[in-house]
Amino acid sequence: MTVPAAARNEAARRAWAALRPRLEPDAVAALGAADADAFLSRADLALFDVHEPLAVLYGPAADELFERALRMVLTAAGERPAALRRIDRRREIDPGWFQRARVQGYVCYVDRFCGTLDRLPGHLDHLAELGTTYLHLMPLLRPRPGENDGGYAVADYRAVDPRLGTMADLEQVATALHDRGMSLCIDLVLNHTAREHAWAQGWLAGDPAYAGFYTAFPDRTMPDAYDATIPEVFPDRAPGSFSWVPEACGGAGGWVWTTFWPYQWDLDYANPEVTLRMLGEITWLANRGVDVFRMDAVPFMWKRLGTSCQNQPEGHSLLQLLHALARLAAPGVVFKAEAIVSPDDLVPYLGGHDRYRPECDLAYHNQLMVLLWSSLATQDTRLARQALGRMKPIPPTASWVTYVRGHDDIGWAVADEDAAAVGLDPFAHRRFLNDFYAGRFPGSYARGALFQENEATGDARVSGSAASLCGIEAALEAGDDAALDAGIRRLVLLYSVAFAWGGIPLLYMGDELAMRNDSGYLADPERAPDNRWLHRPPMDWAAGERRGDPATLEGRVFGQLQRLGAVRRSLLALRAGVESVLLDAGSDEVLVWRREHPRSGAFVGVANFSPHPRGLDADTVTGYGTFEQVHGSDGPLRVRDGRLVVPGLGFAWYAEP
Ligand code: GLC
Ligand code: GLC
Repeated sequence: MTVPAAARNEAARRAWAALRPRLEPDAVAALGAADADAFLSRADLALFDVHEPLAVLYGPAADELFERALRMVLTAAGERPAALRRIDRRREIDPGWFQRARVQGYVCYVDRFCGTLDRLPGHLDHLAELGTTYLHLMPLLRPRPGENDGGYAVADYRAVDPRLGTMADLEQVATALHDRGMSLCIDLVLNHTAREHAWAQGWLAGDPAYAGFYTAFPDRTMPDAYDATIPEVFPDRAPGSFSWVPEACGGAGGWVWTTFWPYQWDLDYANPEVTLRMLGEITWLANRGVDVFRMDAVPFMWKRLGTSCQNQPEGHSLLQLLHALARLAAPGVVFKAEAIVSPDDLVPYLGGHDRYRPECDLAYHNQLMVLLWSSLATQDTRLARQALGRMKPIPPTASWVTYVRGHDDIGWAVADEDAAAVGLDPFAHRRFLNDFYAGRFPGSYARGALFQENEATGDARVSGSAASLCGIEAALEAGDDAALDAGIRRLVLLYSVAFAWGGIPLLYMGDELAMRNDSGYLADPERAPDNRWLHRPPMDWAAGERRGDPATLEGRVFGQLQRLGAVRRSLLALRAGVESVLLDAGSDEVLVWRREHPRSGAFVGVANFSPHPRGLDADTVTGYGTFEQVHGSDGPLRVRDGRLVVPGLGFAWYAEP
């Protein structure tokens, strides 16, 4: 099916030449002359990003789908509220809006943060105090009843979970955020729907409108063939990637594709009807005021026998297509990829292919997150330097989202070749990290728990809140002030890198108050078997009252995170669009990175993962004395014998004035 690029471009041009004159009067009718002109100009520009993926994915149906898709987004553009169109216009003028150093994120569950959506605008001061300009609300669309994987089993994309409020409440939240210069991010679960979703129920009932929306096999032949090469996501309670559904296959029963839990049914994007329906959900939600879509579990969207069924090239074409189409209707909207995959597989989600193809604008920097925790446990940054240093650059129009902790487990995505390059056995290293953060390793301060321990492979991942993994929980229990001090320094150290790596730093709800693990989930039978709930505690507003008191744990952490944000905002070099480069300043325990933005001087960040002071080559860090220290954990660093001394678990930021 490989058609040369020139022929594909020619096909796109032909299709557009045929469609444009017919579309134009409809565009004028829907949008008015000026906005119609803008819409058609956008389509001119996005032509190859729309038509080519359609041709690659759906072959001869491409032209017909092209027209249907363009008409869909035209309708959505016509329905877009005026206030959102104004935001679109600003963002088309300033397409790098999400790359600015002032963009800083916060992630929370609505119920655990403030109960219901209508109460959220009342809590924006807390967020503003931290410097938040980007709010990711964890899954809030109507989930299936009962177990719902923390909301990732969606039964209706056009309704809000009634426990949290209504769609009108969500729109009001979006407006309240926009009024304060903040943007709204929500999850878009597109690999699967809940089995209770109307599409799934229609498919099960044999409704031709939903034919081929999901995949089912009558016996184990194909499932066994696929399972032979697919890694399991939830081996303990949901082994394999298929679930037996007695009502499937016209009532004869069938194995339905369920990568995650049995009640999450994978959509089949080889069927273009699925793609168009999902596009309709995206533009509809965009018109409610969503700015950023966290595209959930995107690596899994396209399947191929004999592979891991992750990161398939067609999955990338699909994202390219949805991105281009969504932005024809809502040009201010941005996609963020949740692709927790190896570094080589990750960069393409940001459009970094052999030849640039716009795809997602943002992606989670999973490597950085994993390597921060790895460096902390080993007190050694060589693996981080090796793995981060080897990553391919991302397109300058895209950006990372950097984070320390999120709502999921930490999976030790260390590439074998990186481990080998620094003399580590990858399996043994992962095992060490699991033991260390589960608190089993002698001398470990961490209080995490193993997630999805797989006896067959020896693999596991780790759950636990950042504060608990950093030793704060253990220190409080022991009443040990020195240990508490170290725990706080670890937590701030990790955030100091996330805030200065380049990209949008995310603060995970509760970390600003050093909230510890919460075992309350064990009392709820629907959540008890999933220990990721350990690190999804309800917000402790009583502790929040202490955030301004530097004599308290909360005050110490809140104040330091607040300061990271304030200094970050003042540094142009921390704007995304350029790469961080790792430096060797003469200590394996200290991570040193440099950023250079074309409109500013250089920035150098320093983070000491050892509990002991470490000396660095002063010239490397300070650019032969030309950079000034703009921030640090312990005030200005001293120089001893020509070496800068970084205190144990300390950090410092330098910038060229
Ligand atoms: C994503 C979510 C995770 C969920 C999975 C299935 O990885 O982060 O919490 O279990 O998708 O939707
Ligand atoms: C998604 C993530 C993976 C995580 C899983 C369950 O698949 O990619 O890292 O472990 O969800 O939390």
